[in-house]
Amino acid sequence: RPDLRVAILGCGTVGTQVVRLLTEQARDLGARIGRGLRVTGVLVRDVEAPRDPSLPRELLTTDAAALVADADLVVELLGGTTTARDLVLASLRAGASVVTANKALLATAGPELYAAADAAGVDLLFEAAVAGAVPVVRGVRESLAGDRVERVLGIVNGTTNYILDEMTTRGLDFDVALAQAQELGYAEADPTADVEGHDAAAKAAILASLAFHTRVALGDVACEGITAVTADDIAAAREAGGVVKLLAVAERVSSGDQGAEAVSVRVNPVILPAAHPLAGVGGAYNAVVVETEAAGRLMFYGQGAGGAPTASAVLGDVVAALRHRAHGGRAPAESAHAALPLATPADV
Ligand code: NAP
Ligand code: HSE
Repeated sequence: RPDLRVAILGCGTVGTQVVRLLTEQARDLGARIGRGLRVTGVLVRDVEAPRDPSLPRELLTTDAAALVADADLVVELLGGTTTARDLVLASLRAGASVVTANKALLATAGPELYAAADAAGVDLLFEAAVAGAVPVVRGVRESLAGDRVERVLGIVNGTTNYILDEMTTRGLDFDVALAQAQELGYAEADPTADVEGHDAAAKAAILASLAFHTRVALGDVACEGITAVTADDIAAAREAGGVVKLLAVAERVSSGDQGAEAVSVRVNPVILPAAHPLAGVGGAYNAVVVETEAAGRLMFYGQGAGGAPTASAVLGDVVAALRHRAHGGRAPAESAHAALPLATPADV
């Protein structure tokens, strides 16, 4: 049987590692999938730009249309919500499965993309969109599908956790720590999304949608980033026996006079007591605590940003999607059936 064809959109921090691992490990991955695979091309803006020498440059192309028209699987690693949206939709409508790490895209255009995937009967997988290498999307979407989630709280942005950690433990200035996070490949192309909390808010919206089987979009998340956190705030927190962390929280709340259920989702900096399970999460690590009715409290922890850790999550989805292409089956479709309303500020 012919090899499965994989098109990669984007060859930056994450794309470079995905292409490297996919080409280096194609034989092993093919054995795990039960069918061979082949990278057909890698979309970039500039094919002449300097790149990692390990990259097979002959794969680079600027012809997006040709790439998505001839693929079993399209892996979207561009970022942004315009070109990425158009190409993901075109891929799904052409019958290709899609793997994406793009939380901003899912938190703004998710329902449209899920509908296109459902119509085509193909996978739309996005483990890497939340918490990098940490398998929290699959954990909430699949492993906890039979339980009732009460609350999800976590550190879901590596850049801001790195900045706060460097300010706390080494006394670094905000700007210096941010520059280091960019150098290490943790930050978004425009780090405003990180430091203003929008990246964490997009991830909180995705997790809340999965955990509560409802639809939460980026604009539904109350959001405050870390740009107003000062060295004095951090010193005061330490004196009080705590540590400043940017937390994402999604929880069931009672709403209105009748006490009906609603979902509240927010991102903001908080002072955690040193003994809290999230207080010791350092560097660009992420951790998500999920509290459920039957399982109790679970904690997902690991590297939340960076090329190789994120590529690990992308490749897990690539294997899952290609197994379905080779042998049939499909990952869970969107499960937004409970339609829990969003809480109003008065409910929270
Ligand atoms: P990046 O380093 O900025 O790379 C983006 C890549 O996409 C570049 O290769 C760029 O081409 C290409 N590209 C962008 N717009 C394009 C267009 N219109 N046409 C053709 N090519 C285009 O980004 P990244 O850090 O790898 O992140 C990629 C995605 O993964 C984003 O959605 C991000 O939020 C997500 N993500 C990142 C991390 C992380 O730790 N970095 C972790 C989890 C998820 P050129 O190379 O020619 O400029
Ligand atoms: N910029 C993001 C972060 C990348 O720092 O968490 C991982 O999603």
